[in-house]
Amino acid sequence: MGRLENQRVLVVGGSSGLGLAAAQAAAGVGAAVTIASRSREKIDAALAAIGAGAEGRVLDTTSDESVEAFFADGAVYDHVVVTAAQTKVAAVRELPLADAFASMNSKFWGAYRIARAARIRDGGSLTFVTGVLAIRPRKGAAIQGAINAGLEALAQGLALELAPVRVNTVSPGLVATPLYDRMAADARQAMYDRAAATLPAGLVGRPEHIATQILAFITNPYATGSTAYIHGGSALI
Ligand SMILES: NC(=O)c1ccc[n+]([C@@H]2O[C@H](COP(=O)([O-])OP(=O)(O)OC[C@H]3O[C@@H](n4cnc5c(N)ncnc54)[C@H](OP(=O)(O)O)[C@@H]3O)[C@@H](O)[C@H]2O)c1
Repeated sequence: MGRLENQRVLVVGGSSGLGLAAAQAAAGVGAAVTIASRSREKIDAALAAIGAGAEGRVLDTTSDESVEAFFADGAVYDHVVVTAAQTKVAAVRELPLADAFASMNSKFWGAYRIARAARIRDGGSLTFVTGVLAIRPRKGAAIQGAINAGLEALAQGLALELAPVRVNTVSPGLVATPLYDRMAADARQAMYDRAAATLPAGLVGRPEHIATQILAFITNPYATGSTAYIHGGSALI
């Protein structure tokens, strides 16, 4: 894997889970990392985990004004990664429309806003994180699959529009992150155990499994318009 000395990497959603792991991986190969998310407290805790040299700034991807203000300094990044999202998932006929719109606004339009506003140098990259539900639907999560599929299609269009900036998507399966902190501890553990027992990979995903692929897209100058599925084999069963 290439080194990223003298390169600026922005991870939107870098205060937790997959984004934090991507930020740590980029910092580990020498990048100057900036993380962004809504909570100052979460950013500060994440910065302590990433280590010296990283910066953190507050940003809410659901707000046009917040995104505009964030990029108003004109900073040019070498690589931008977007993992930020907060979605509600339920069956279409059970999920209130307002929640469906809010989920789309967070994950799809949030990434869209970043793609529109971020300045990225030629040959640099933009990486989205979607999810295996786009290709392996599940009852009760149709909206999440639709958001992920939309984002993957957006990335391919952006790969043409933003060239020579490269645009790729990493699509994970189940990964143990704070995303699941809302679940009761025993139900969460049961979900992880079930996944480890049934997935071809024989284990639950860890954030670093996804970060490795994000870093591969950042550092591979021939990768653009690609989606990498890192799901432990969950799309096969
Ligand atoms: N974990 C999995 O099993 C899994 C599987 C497939 C796909 N994914 C996808 O991977 C992405 C990351 O998931 P994760 O597991 O890393 O979740 P996570 O641990 O909950 O992290 C989400 C991050 O996004 C930030 N964020 C949320 N809404 C934001 C907003 N409006 N503006 C700016 N930042 C925002 C959060 O920080 P603040 O609260 O401070 O804003 C946090 O840093 C999501 O799109 C998720 O759907 C995850």
